[in-house]
Amino acid sequence: MFPYSNDVDYQCWLNYQRLETPSLSDQYKEYLKNIVINIDGYIIDSIKNELYYSIKKFFNIEAIITNKPIKRTFTIISKLDGGSFFSNTIKEEEYTSLSEEGFLIKKVENSTKKFILITAKSDEGLLYGTYKLIQNIQMEKPLDQLNLLEKPYIPLRIINHWDNLDGSIERGYAGKSIFYRNNELVDNLDRIRDYARLLSSIGLNGIVLNNVNVKSEETKLIAERINIVEKLYDVFKRYGIKIYLSVNFASPMIIGGLKTADPLDKEVRKWWKERVDFIYNRIPDFGGFLVKADSEGQPGPFTYNRTHVDGANMLAEALAPHGGLLIWRAFVYNCYQDWRDNETDRAKAAYDTFMPLDGKFLDNVIIQIKNGPMDFQVREPVNPLFGGLQKTNQILEFQITQEYTGQQKHLCYLVPQWKEVLDFDTFLFGEGTSVAKIVSGSIFNSPNFGIAGISNIGDEINWTGHTLAQANLYGFGRLAWDPSLSGKKIIEEWIKCTFGNNETVLNNLSEMMLKSWNIYEKYTAPLGVGWMVNPGHHYGPNVDGYEYSRWGTYHKADHYGIGVDRTLKSGTGYTAQYRQQNFEKYEHLDSCPDELLLFFHHVSYIYKLSNNKTVLQHIYDTHFEGVEDVQWLIDKWQGLERYIDSKRYSSVYQRLLEQRESAKEWRDVINSYFYRKTMIYDEKRRKIY
Ligand code: GCU
Repeated sequence: MFPYSNDVDYQCWLNYQRLETPSLSDQYKEYLKNIVINIDGYIIDSIKNELYYSIKKFFNIEAIITNKPIKRTFTIISKLDGGSFFSNTIKEEEYTSLSEEGFLIKKVENSTKKFILITAKSDEGLLYGTYKLIQNIQMEKPLDQLNLLEKPYIPLRIINHWDNLDGSIERGYAGKSIFYRNNELVDNLDRIRDYARLLSSIGLNGIVLNNVNVKSEETKLIAERINIVEKLYDVFKRYGIKIYLSVNFASPMIIGGLKTADPLDKEVRKWWKERVDFIYNRIPDFGGFLVKADSEGQPGPFTYNRTHVDGANMLAEALAPHGGLLIWRAFVYNCYQDWRDNETDRAKAAYDTFMPLDGKFLDNVIIQIKNGPMDFQVREPVNPLFGGLQKTNQILEFQITQEYTGQQKHLCYLVPQWKEVLDFDTFLFGEGTSVAKIVSGSIFNSPNFGIAGISNIGDEINWTGHTLAQANLYGFGRLAWDPSLSGKKIIEEWIKCTFGNNETVLNNLSEMMLKSWNIYEKYTAPLGVGWMVNPGHHYGPNVDGYEYSRWGTYHKADHYGIGVDRTLKSGTGYTAQYRQQNFEKYEHLDSCPDELLLFFHHVSYIYKLSNNKTVLQHIYDTHFEGVEDVQWLIDKWQGLERYIDSKRYSSVYQRLLEQRESAKEWRDVINSYFYRKTMIYDEKRRKIY
């Protein structure tokens, strides 16, 4: 059976609806009746399956796949070295500019034949090209415009799963794991194959299969439970996706029976080498390890008075002979630190830990850095390690799962947020050194750079709980492939492939999606201050509640003012972690952008923002507006009722209602907190509960 479920919500952007323009459909059909594929391989088999399936759905015909053309009009999928048959149709510059994973799609016509050509240097490139062609059909792009050369801008494009073997998912909001149940792999792997299809259709090429917080059962994945990994490998390799595992730094003790996990201990080093050899013996294309060390209770080299270089390099040495990568997270901070003095600042931790180590890591070590210095808040500045590190491989980490952005009950399209991060100029090597440029690896001349996203999927039928949260997964992949794409372009593609080509749906829904992050921000934590969520599960408002704020409030609100002074002049000195231009911007009140004001400065409630409103009035206004805006989302969505199937329509509608209730709660809790603290009225005299 292909796919596992025919539910339209399950199929996401691969639902291959009939085209609405019959003439265009006929044109494509003519080319796709006969497909020529002259190579074999397991990725090639996936290409064939996708073509059979999509062509049946689009045109209701059975495609005929042959290794030579049997008609005058056809589609050919062939490697660049696939023979003289089409080689004279490719220009020299096209040939040279194709990267290993890139592809070229062309429409060729001469006196004897007409064909669509998809060509690439690798099977993966052919797979990406095939999905692109299918997407063009779904989006009803005219056939004449078919002339595309694409290659991914960022080399490593990895989805991270925080799934545990018992089936639970840390920060998962869409059911249980699609991989594991009761410490076993699930029985039916078809759904996992469909997941691999979704991932490769957006160009992702790696997956971390388990949670970064590695508990005892998961440590066995690199030992007696390797068969689970092997089976998953067999699914993902067919879609060009490498697999990686999170490992526990103390594994030599937990499963190896050693007395220490000291990275400089000979026995420990030997143990890891043997483990790695064992893994590669079973999984020849294994990607490597991801490690969260010395953070939030995870073990690490600090226990042995060793550095992160000692820890990471030890594992990297074991992986290097096999071409494996060691991805080491920069999310290292002491969650018990007492921050009552003026200098201690969690935001400084990653930079303080890793900057002194720059240049000391082996070539196959990559530091994986969260987009901001804290923890996936609705608004944070860019992590200053981007722009700091000069001699270290880096991966940028985003959170697709909406831990702090509404937990997939609220609509929050995150691509605009991610775009701001990717476009941010770090000034590393002068003006124009954007984060995107850094993680492309191009300026470092290394392929060991990339982007990672924490998955937002689970075993609910539509994968993400909120149907519209599928767009975040889609958008993550698209940005990883091409960070220059706009949020608008990406959402339009997603809408067309998910809901069809209706203009009203396209217009209303894209407007809703593009405004949604900003709306969420309005009714939650203001002006970059972050948190204000309930401890533990992190849903809903609780101004002083965040669990690591035992040392007084982290937002430092009293009845005069609010915000954290992170300036060099009078605060924690965090601003000094940026290069000069950004340092200047954030250090001074008059140049600090309003949306990050309270992240960088402690100001009085009557401080005037650039729109001439006081901080307090801004808080009141945005919290009222945020609720009104959610009502606007509901109205817009209601306008689409007749264009969208009732199942998807009503499930999104229900979530929007929940969002409205939650937004009201946020508004009331935040506004009354600040009203009581300040005893300053809302200028508009609205009722504050
Ligand atoms: C957040 C999240 C944790 C997670 C951590 C991480 O703090 O709440 O559940 O383990 O990030 O990224 O490691």
